[in-house]
Amino acid sequence: MSDEYIENNQYNIGHICTKRQCALGRADKTAMRWIDAHGARVDYSFSDLDRESNRFANVLSDLGVQSGDIFFTYLPKMPEQFFAFLGALKVQAICGTMFSNFGEDALLDRLGDSGAKGVITKKSLLRKISSIRSRLPALKFIIVADGDTVASEGVLGLKDLMNAASAEFETPLTSAETPSVLHYTSGSTGKPKGVLHRHGSIINQNMTTREVLGLTLDDVFWCTADQGWVTGTSYGIIGPWSLGVTQVHYGGGYDAREWMNLLARERISVWYSAPTALRMLMREDEAIFSEADLSHLRHVFSVGEPLNPEVIHWARRLLKRDIYDTWFQTETGAIMISNRPGLDVRPGSMGKQVAGIEPAIIAECGAHLSDGEQGNLCLKSGWPSLFITYLNNDAVYRQKFQHGYYHTGDTARRDADGYYWFMGRSDDVINTAGHLVSPFEVESALLEVEEVAESGVVGVPDELLYEKVVAFISLHERYTPSSELEIKIRLRVSNKVSTVATPQEIIFCPVIPKNKSGKIMRRVLKARYMGEDPGDTSTMEI
Ligand code: PRX
Repeated sequence: MSDEYIENNQYNIGHICTKRQCALGRADKTAMRWIDAHGARVDYSFSDLDRESNRFANVLSDLGVQSGDIFFTYLPKMPEQFFAFLGALKVQAICGTMFSNFGEDALLDRLGDSGAKGVITKKSLLRKISSIRSRLPALKFIIVADGDTVASEGVLGLKDLMNAASAEFETPLTSAETPSVLHYTSGSTGKPKGVLHRHGSIINQNMTTREVLGLTLDDVFWCTADQGWVTGTSYGIIGPWSLGVTQVHYGGGYDAREWMNLLARERISVWYSAPTALRMLMREDEAIFSEADLSHLRHVFSVGEPLNPEVIHWARRLLKRDIYDTWFQTETGAIMISNRPGLDVRPGSMGKQVAGIEPAIIAECGAHLSDGEQGNLCLKSGWPSLFITYLNNDAVYRQKFQHGYYHTGDTARRDADGYYWFMGRSDDVINTAGHLVSPFEVESALLEVEEVAESGVVGVPDELLYEKVVAFISLHERYTPSSELEIKIRLRVSNKVSTVATPQEIIFCPVIPKNKSGKIMRRVLKARYMGEDPGDTSTMEI
């Protein structure tokens, strides 16, 4: 990252994305064009972004938030999300983000494990936090972004707080090592783990935004990802704003025609989306794309799930453009492997490593494998946006590293020309529409339904979502399956975990296969669903 952005070793992400941009002559340049779900637009310049995040930094300071304290956003896409995130980083708080569709259990896991001191949310989401508040002793305050008065003790309205706060804030000198962003990610066992990053991650985010996404000061960028996801912070906030690029943020949901209108009207030149959204577009009337004016659109990128070749062929035909697949993880903080302009796209491949990253395909025994062989995708550790720990779980963090390599948990192969091909995950985590879902978390929520005796949750291939969540359920003897019960079960998972974790399919069965130590044999369930041979079942109990 050039000295232009880092001055006097000030690595603070909040500062670089706002005040530093103003100092570089971009104070009046549009940083964010906010477009709400009804199409109303508001432009925020870099100086607006600086002022509002300063105010928020002062709000947090006045509430006693200090360097290293944990603060969360629990908001849908809205301007306050960005002011809060950057303001929290300015006071050197660790800023976590949570999807607005998270349920109570998901909130409790994150706010509880991290010992969060404060959270900002919306009126419509407040109930979910209030209902678990008594179990969050460290949580001192809740800020309501669309509230202006003090609603009850410890619940504060943002408007009043912002009105009373100074627009000036001197960001403390922040080293590259200072903890910054926290995203929880689901594993196949246990609770979600808090992936902690540091301010120095901005080096990779800035570099990949330039060199992979190809953004320059003249671009208008649209990243569709929610800020609850690492893509939404690394590329929906940090990378582009650290470069002084104008971003469009849109508060509406999926709508093919509206999306094409948005691309045309806002003259979006670089668009970063995800395979499920692109596959949804593929199902739409072709006229929507042939009639759309995409003359300003230079590049389209994708991340989060395998990008199947059909999508690339569709885009070449209808959008007249390639789609560049990119690969990374919450833990890696920035794009590690990608297709990009200037590199021939091989449909189905994730592309090649980015500058400074050294991938290796490593066997279980630790041997480095040759081209063409499938194995664990590992990355030589040490780049700046590599996570610094799993919060409160350093032992599991350390297990991820062997002989200087970070083990990603994905399997892949490299071809003779150095392109990487994603093969799958080496654990049971389900990737549905780009969201990682822990089968363990869903099973735990299912067990809370009084009728459910046991359950086993697996991900199975799905044409649209890449994988869908399927729950095998056995009921206590006195209950029988019914459509009402299915609805009850789905609602429970949706309220407790999240809407994306809600089983797409429920299969009632008399028993759930387990091994002799009582572990659910998800592999057997998946094979049963797929009509395949379950392989070795010698350890199976029943
Ligand atoms: O399995 C890989 C899949 O998503 C995982 C990372 O998920 P998460 O930490 O939620 O971060 C998602 C945003 C980057 C990876 O371990 N994944 C990500 N990108 C791709 C992918 N799978 C295939 N192709 C990709 N391009």
